[in-house]
Amino acid sequence: MTNNTKLHEIMSVNNNGSSVFASKVGAILAAAGSAVGLGNIWRFPTETGANGGAAFILIYIFFMAVIGVPIMVTEFAIGRHGGKDVMHSFFKMSDGKTGWKWMGLLPVVAGFLVLSYYAVVAGWTLYYAAVACENGFAGKTSADFAADFAAFSSNPVDPILWLAVIIILTVGVVALGVQKGIERGAKIMMPLLFIFVAILVICSLTLPGASKGLEFLFKPDFSQVTGATALSAMGQAFFSLSVGICCLCTYACYFRKDVNLIQDGVQVATIDTLVALMAGLVIFPAVYSIPGMEPNAGPSLVFITLPNVFQQVFGDVPFLAYSFSLVFYLLLVMAALTSSISMLEMAAAYFHEELRISRPVSAVLVGSVCVVLGGICSLSFGVWSDVTLFGLGAFDLFDFLVAKLLMPLGSLAMCIFVGWVVDEKKVRDELTNGGTINAKVYPVYLFLVRYVAPIGIVLIFVNELSK
Ligand code: PHE
Repeated sequence: MTNNTKLHEIMSVNNNGSSVFASKVGAILAAAGSAVGLGNIWRFPTETGANGGAAFILIYIFFMAVIGVPIMVTEFAIGRHGGKDVMHSFFKMSDGKTGWKWMGLLPVVAGFLVLSYYAVVAGWTLYYAAVACENGFAGKTSADFAADFAAFSSNPVDPILWLAVIIILTVGVVALGVQKGIERGAKIMMPLLFIFVAILVICSLTLPGASKGLEFLFKPDFSQVTGATALSAMGQAFFSLSVGICCLCTYACYFRKDVNLIQDGVQVATIDTLVALMAGLVIFPAVYSIPGMEPNAGPSLVFITLPNVFQQVFGDVPFLAYSFSLVFYLLLVMAALTSSISMLEMAAAYFHEELRISRPVSAVLVGSVCVVLGGICSLSFGVWSDVTLFGLGAFDLFDFLVAKLLMPLGSLAMCIFVGWVVDEKKVRDELTNGGTINAKVYPVYLFLVRYVAPIGIVLIFVNELSK
């Protein structure tokens, strides 16, 4: 290690006096932690199941490569260029064209919305991990699992307490700061998450349904593909990579100047896709091991179908049923936490940097509001199920606003900003670290950001809204 890199390793602030991730690995793991979440282990198998399997996965990977990664790299470039918070980053990148700095409010609004409903599902996973830990799934039938989930999710108190626990844990990590909280959390949880999912894959592949599960995941049947499949795949790519609402832009403010942004984007997307595929390798062999189970059970797959499947396939060896369920729900909890940390940071960073509120206070502030909003989302599964706006309950409304409105619109704005508004030399400089790293893929990036991504996004947007 040269003296120069040593110096970088121990530096904890950048030129703006803001914190930075201490290591390159820390930066990748933090961004991967944001990307890998319930979107991979809960939403990906659900969407794959609903859209016919392998063909959907291929289309998803295609969109990931041609739209998702370029937008991620764009967020990285904007964030690192500013090095403080998103508002400052847009201001600096646009050479003070003041209008663009208001993009800095996007992560604040989106952060509150996305964390509030995400924490509801994250709270469910924590509750299921606790039940698994007490061996509470033993001896239950499929009807019991369905009834238990309906009773729990519609209860007016318990799910709110569990979501509050998730938010308290998240606030704790964010309050500790960039290096001691976010980076350390990612460095501990991401390797554990990988080990857990690998253990589960190995167990799952020994099950009788393994070959059918593999076929479903890897043998494409394009006869099932419709325009809607393609657009769902694009939506899944956005959500899974956390792009479009300046979440990764927020993290990139803490990247060191020697991080290779394009390489990082590709690595994060690869880790994200790998974990999603591994989650598929855990879930589908298990589902196909029980006659009569279908892979397209929808969002209840993880909370009704799977606990039932785990009990049945490992029924003869209670210890296996117990450990498999416990490891699976712990995996979900960790995946949810590394993502929720990035969501809270989106809004907390703004209050901390722009309004000069201390980091712990701003984390508590954002967290408290999210417990209240999350509580409202949770109640929309029970007592407030008939309180709707535009025909949607609070949970669905928040999801709609984030995934179908803010993500595509934010992505489009960023493509226009970096592709057409910002001085091209500045973008090239940021992505080649001032000309010190190989720039061969840069023209490809520029083409994707200027033309392919915006056109793709307009298509998804128009289609989603017309549903
Ligand atoms: N990408 C995360 C997941 O897959 C969700 C997320 C969305 C995280 C937006 C941050 C911002 O679960």
